Amino acid sequence: MPLTLAPMIELSRKQDGSQDTAAFARDVADGLSQQQKTLPSRYFYDGAGSRLFQQIMDLPEYYLTRSEFEVLTNNRQTMAEHFAREGFFHLIDLGAGDALKTKILLRELARQQSVFDYVPVDISGDAMLELSSSLQEELPEVKVEAVVGEYFQALEWLQEHKAERKVVLFLGSNIGNFEYQESLEFLGSVRSYLQAGDRLLMGVDLRKNPDVILNAYDDAAGVTAAFNLNLLHRINRELGGDFKVEQFCHHAIYNPLEGVMRSFLVSKVEQQVQIRETGKTFSFEAWEAIHTENSHKYTLRQVEELGSACGFKVETVFYDSQRGFADVLFTVS
Ligand code: TRP
Repeated sequence: MPLTLAPMIELSRKQDGSQDTAAFARDVADGLSQQQKTLPSRYFYDGAGSRLFQQIMDLPEYYLTRSEFEVLTNNRQTMAEHFAREGFFHLIDLGAGDALKTKILLRELARQQSVFDYVPVDISGDAMLELSSSLQEELPEVKVEAVVGEYFQALEWLQEHKAERKVVLFLGSNIGNFEYQESLEFLGSVRSYLQAGDRLLMGVDLRKNPDVILNAYDDAAGVTAAFNLNLLHRINRELGGDFKVEQFCHHAIYNPLEGVMRSFLVSKVEQQVQIRETGKTFSFEAWEAIHTENSHKYTLRQVEELGSACGFKVETVFYDSQRGFADVLFTVS
């Protein structure tokens, strides 16, 4: 690693990875011990999972990334002007990943010669290293301070910089992966560390034809299935599990009344699975399901209500041309 890399804070990892493995084992054991089995979606993104998710974003069916790309491209100038209105600010990017979308804004902010620094936050240390070095090449004038950690560590960062001006990015409809109550708590916490003049730009996937939504989470080429099933491979690799992955299948359903897309891994046969690091064996009945992810789709009114319940008011709503996706700019109320 070159010494010239932007400063980097390692918040979440122990050097030997022991904390990660123990926490992963505990979360898996908890989830698989419940009446209705679940596995937490934050474990999707190991190396293999991140590569599969990159492929998902390129799928013809997965409209979300392209739609938001269009929103940001078409509105970057207005967005950047809003951000920089009150002078210097920290731009905090929650779940930055490769920041392909955020770079649209970063280039525009640099073009407008805005005074800011960029704080990408992500659970993937590899992603943050790559992002720091790619930005140093592409946009050397932008000061970057990457944070490796989960959302609650992002909140700690916000708290520590409470008095300074901030614009928080929460793109990609990541908010949709929270339960409604969790989204209230999370946005409420973000809000509590913001002050007058600060802003939140949040990506939300809007209600649309249910077939379009369903296909985005159950693509013809089976990439989403592979992505979901990779969670079992990861448990085998990292926790000494003996999942026979071919005996599980991916299943996705969309409920248009609730606006919730749900993804499952379903056991095709009655079977037992041993996971060494948990010290436990888990029994599956034939066709028993593990719930792995929820993705909420919103009406605009719901987004406004969610914001106002957390102390935000809508400043501007930016849509894609199909009106299927929105980036909503909030100020504090
Ligand atoms: N969390 C993302 C989303 O809701 C990623 C994702 C795409 C996903 N397809 C998935 C998560 C299938 C679980 C299962 O869009």
